[in-house]
Amino acid sequence: MTKSALACVVLAAGRGTRMRSELPKVLHPVAGLPMLGHVLRAAAGLGPERIVVVVGPAMEAVAKAAAPYATTVQKNQRGTADAVRAAEEKLKGFSGNILVLFGDTPLLTEDALRLMLDARASHQAALVVAAFTPPDASGYGRVILNASGQVTAIVEDRDATPEQRAIPLCNGGMMLITAPEAWSLLAQIQNKNAKSEYYLTDIVALAHQAGLKTVAATMTPDVVHGVNDRVDLAAVEALMQQRLRLAAMRHGVTLEDPTSVYLSYDTVLAADVTVGPHVVFGSGVVVEERVRIRPFSHLEGAQVSAGAIIGPYARLRPGSKVQAGAHIGNFVELKNASVGAGTKINHLTYIGDAEVGSGSNIGAGTITCNYDGFRKHQTKIGDNAFIGSNTALVAPVEVGDGAFIGAGSVITNNVPPNTLAVARGRQVNLENWAQRTREGKKE
Ligand code: UD1
Ligand code: MG
Repeated sequence: MTKSALACVVLAAGRGTRMRSELPKVLHPVAGLPMLGHVLRAAAGLGPERIVVVVGPAMEAVAKAAAPYATTVQKNQRGTADAVRAAEEKLKGFSGNILVLFGDTPLLTEDALRLMLDARASHQAALVVAAFTPPDASGYGRVILNASGQVTAIVEDRDATPEQRAIPLCNGGMMLITAPEAWSLLAQIQNKNAKSEYYLTDIVALAHQAGLKTVAATMTPDVVHGVNDRVDLAAVEALMQQRLRLAAMRHGVTLEDPTSVYLSYDTVLAADVTVGPHVVFGSGVVVEERVRIRPFSHLEGAQVSAGAIIGPYARLRPGSKVQAGAHIGNFVELKNASVGAGTKINHLTYIGDAEVGSGSNIGAGTITCNYDGFRKHQTKIGDNAFIGSNTALVAPVEVGDGAFIGAGSVITNNVPPNTLAVARGRQVNLENWAQRTREGKKE
């Protein structure tokens, strides 16, 4: 097998009108990452020399999502062949292979793309198409093979004869072409078809007629599943979730009810983590060994160290750091807060913009008052501290190691180490007050 230089061209200029969205289609997220991001990750996995993303006019947001890769603008959406030509200028002088990808196929994998590279190398082919057999072929281009297994043409669904329409083998969209041939063949493509568009798929017949070797790499339907509307988006999300869940379980994670757990593209769960039903992982979560995440918890941008227990009904917002063996219980919200080893925060609490030491106990209903209406402020709680229930800690404020705070306190001043602080009205008992009052009312 010969290895030659590779450039990827990702088409993302389509308007995606069927999404009925202000957001460009390729920016709709799947498992927390824009579709385009998934495609770029798969492409980057191949280690290509260059990646060029073709965007539409006034698609700055797409160009931003494509960073750090180069983008080029396709001025009018005149079809997939025209879109690839928009990248010609950016690839001037490049003489390896060009891999064309679609930005709306987020289930693409590096492995599937390698099938194409391998087919090119093993057949010494000039052009490789990605072929698959979907359960329902309607809408897809059909791949026409000759007796020796070469691809002689791709015919779009709308332009196909009834005989061609009966062919089950379809075009997944991706295409691998050697660079010098690509540009000359693309320039010959015309738009005499049902949509009056310049079809990239027409390059296959042109290449075949020019005597170039054109083959198909066959892959499973899931990797080329495209997204054209919100129904496709939901279907692709479900497939992606299933893929992520299987990968987690194979890695040694127990998912008690896999289909109710939602993962992000970047969720990291170590071996022997147990996740209960109905847990949602937003992006940026890392969970270490033996952590138990109980039902109905929501985590995002959080780091959880070995052996900690989270939930049920816990919410870990971005910047949460839970150290080894800590307990974060029901209706507890953490935001931009670190919680030391073995500390327990078990009920009905908000800890935001805070640092809590190890071995501390944070009573039910503790609130860090971190926001004064203008700015956020820090709360610091030391090691082995005891915060009584229903305490308000008005930040900025510090509670020292080993300090105690009486329940119901509103703490506005720092509490030195090993000190008891009580900040609430002192209790007054008026003996016989109730009896006297009742008798007075009777009179
Ligand atoms: C295309 C293929 C079809 C294949 C199917 C697989 C062609 C002509 N047809 O059809 O054979 O079975 O994909 O899903 O290629 N785009 C641009 N600029 C344009 C037009 C499209 O950037 O002017 C981009 C779109 O954003 C999209 C991709 O190209 O990412 C594919 O375009 P789309 O219109 O979805 O092609 P299909 O009709 O699905
Ligand atoms: Mg499509």
